[in-house]
Amino acid sequence: MIPVYFFVLFLLSCLPLLHSVNDKNISMPICPESFTCPNLASFKYPFYNVTDTQCGLIKVDCTSKGAKIQLGGLSYDIIGKFDSDILHIWNTTFEQLVSNKSCDALTHNLTPPSPSPLLYSISIFPNINLFKCKKHLTYDERTYAYIDPHSYNSYDRCIDYDFYYKYLNGTLPTDLPYACQVVQLPVKFSNRPGIDETDIFSLLPSLPSFLFKMSPSCDDCYKKGHRCDAKNGDVYCSDVIKEKPETEPTPDPNHEPIFTR
Ligand SMILES: *[C@@H]1O[C@H](CO)[C@@H](O)[C@H](O)[C@H]1NC(C)=O
Ligand SMILES: *[C@@H]1O[C@H](CO)[C@@H](O)[C@H](O)[C@H]1NC(C)=O
Ligand SMILES: *[C@@H]1O[C@H](CO)[C@@H](O)[C@H](O)[C@H]1NC(C)=O
Ligand SMILES: *[C@@H]1O[C@H](CO)[C@@H](O)[C@H](O)[C@H]1NC(C)=O
Ligand SMILES: *[C@@H]1O[C@H](CO)[C@@H](O)[C@H](O)[C@H]1NC(C)=O
Repeated sequence: MIPVYFFVLFLLSCLPLLHSVNDKNISMPICPESFTCPNLASFKYPFYNVTDTQCGLIKVDCTSKGAKIQLGGLSYDIIGKFDSDILHIWNTTFEQLVSNKSCDALTHNLTPPSPSPLLYSISIFPNINLFKCKKHLTYDERTYAYIDPHSYNSYDRCIDYDFYYKYLNGTLPTDLPYACQVVQLPVKFSNRPGIDETDIFSLLPSLPSFLFKMSPSCDDCYKKGHRCDAKNGDVYCSDVIKEKPETEPTPDPNHEPIFTR
């Protein structure tokens, strides 16, 4: 009976992370400063470990190979993280489309929408902008689009569209021609092997990366020890959140029997 009692006590004290900061305020969570998943650099706010629901904005589920994160109702497999804000995504569909040199790889929209109001933004990093233009642009349309054949590479083997791009130092015209749209795709760094500027598929990585950036107002909240949240379309700073250090929790005398046996 006794060990069971202590075990239940132990579970109750470890699970919710909702210890009261003082008697009057039981709703303020105590959040870990950071947490780690297998093979990945540690996560910090705005990411939160799956059960610490009040501790962040982006849910992370550790898996045996890395993690899954939830964004805009979709689940993304994370298989690399070497830096605080950049996550390598594994999407089998995209990987196959690239290796099959499928035209669908050139229109595949990988990036989840950033939240509104803007608490943080998500972008592909590094990225390349492609012009996706209707086939056989006239000379006038090309001129209007500033698509100078000497400085743009092109890909014309898709049925509905031709694609124009500049691998290095690509810039976008300020007024987009009506015959073209911009597609943003992940791209390899120029020091990677096998890159051929004239072959768009050799430029696409099989594992794209997302860059997460807190909005200036959220970053401000965070630096002052607050967290940010959105209510009725406005961004606001929460109360100061107590950080729980990353180290082992200090053992409560009540728990000793479990750890010693
Ligand atoms: C308790 O939390 C609420 C909202 O989370 C806040 O308005 C209030 O000031 C807090 N009270 C104390 C004593 O910290
Ligand atoms: C995340 O939360 C779960 C459930 O509370 C816990 O078992 C796990 O150790 C936590 N993971 C990390 C990396 O802190
Ligand atoms: C890629 O090609 C393989 C083999 O032809 C095929 O089985 C697979 O369905 C293709 N994948 C995509 C996403 O089109
Ligand atoms: C790949 O991305 C597409 C959307 O871009 C999504 O619908 C699909 O579920 C993803 N697949 C995997 C295996 O992550
Ligand atoms: C790109 O820009 C950098 C610096 O702005 C310059 O050094 C480099 O030569 C440019 N590369 C090309 C291909 O124009």
